[in-house]
Amino acid sequence: VLGLWPPVAPSRRPKRSAVLFFEVEILDARTRDKLCFLDKVEPQATVADIKNLFSKAHPQWYPARQSLRLDPKGRSLKDEDVLQSLPVGTTATLYFRDLGAQISWVTVFLTEYAGPLLIYLLFYFRVPFLYGPRYDFTASRHRVVHLACCCHSFHYVKRLLETLFVHRFSHGTMPLRNIFKNCTYYWGFAAWMAYYINHPLYTPPAYGDEQVKLALAVFLFCQLGNFSIHVALRNLRPAGSKTRKIPYPTRNPFTWLFLLVSCPNYTYEVGSWIGFTIMTQCLPVALFSLVGFVQMAIWAQGKHRSYLREFRDYPPLRSPIIPFLL
Ligand SMILES: NC(=O)c1ccc[n+]([C@@H]2O[C@H](COP(=O)([O-])OP(=O)(O)OC[C@H]3O[C@@H](n4cnc5c(N)ncnc54)[C@H](OP(=O)(O)O)[C@@H]3O)[C@@H](O)[C@H]2O)c1
Repeated sequence: VLGLWPPVAPSRRPKRSAVLFFEVEILDARTRDKLCFLDKVEPQATVADIKNLFSKAHPQWYPARQSLRLDPKGRSLKDEDVLQSLPVGTTATLYFRDLGAQISWVTVFLTEYAGPLLIYLLFYFRVPFLYGPRYDFTASRHRVVHLACCCHSFHYVKRLLETLFVHRFSHGTMPLRNIFKNCTYYWGFAAWMAYYINHPLYTPPAYGDEQVKLALAVFLFCQLGNFSIHVALRNLRPAGSKTRKIPYPTRNPFTWLFLLVSCPNYTYEVGSWIGFTIMTQCLPVALFSLVGFVQMAIWAQGKHRSYLREFRDYPPLRSPIIPFLL
């Protein structure tokens, strides 16, 4: 579509549009070197179209790894932004940053979540070289250990299925380097938690069955809550779109937490891990819950701020992750 229109003879040019084409120059955001010059770009061209044209000149920078900005240090333009609505003249200067090699979100999530699921099971089944030969393939005599394995596996199977069938992501990819960081975090913690919970010398919770039952109730409640929020978020976005809307409570009571927080899925996620901590009474689990909480609180604050920026009528009562507190 772009730059391919045959030039129109001046006498036959429609009067209503003074500019038929734009020129776009793309500079390196760091060095300001000129990387590419595109002439005859349609005014209706989107940033995604420009990225496609740019990648023809520089195939190593495929569209998903490009960030194009109006200002070298400014925000990245959205793929759906239209050239003629940007604050540029007929010669637009865009600044390019390389986001690095990209990998699809679905691959990322599948790798991140399948890892903990399998690693935990290795410890649960006590495969050789973990606890010494006499414990190989033996089973724990504590019922809570079996219950914990069911809960842990349930959690990650749920996440895998949600990644495949529930979430509608707006970004197709993320930087490849993130996967190493994320996998170290998820896989490492899963191994550490599983090692202690399935250890032959593991001691069950101090308050016995009562503690385990309470913990299971908290865990299941929060898992249901988390799933309900994910479904509510999915229903906000028509298939194939990138629309972002203000989420509101639906008829499902688990979503009523939207009255008080912007990211109730994170609130429920933290709740699930608190439940798992009470159930197993295990220090690495408590630490995983704490680190997860800190990370999700930071993300929730970012998401909350962007809701406030994007929507003037955003409900003022909401906090990012913990009602009235945080
Ligand atoms: N244990 C841990 O350490 C930990 C850490 C992080 C996450 N998690 C779990 O993983 C789940 C997913 O994490 P996430 O960070 O991807 O959650 P998220 O940002 O809340 O997003 C979940 C899905 O909903 C979409 N979405 C969010 N807000 C939307 C809106 N206003 N309108 C339309 N769609 C919207 C997102 O699309 P976009 O692609 O546009 O964002 C994404 O597909 C969490 O809920 C949590 O259960 C666990």
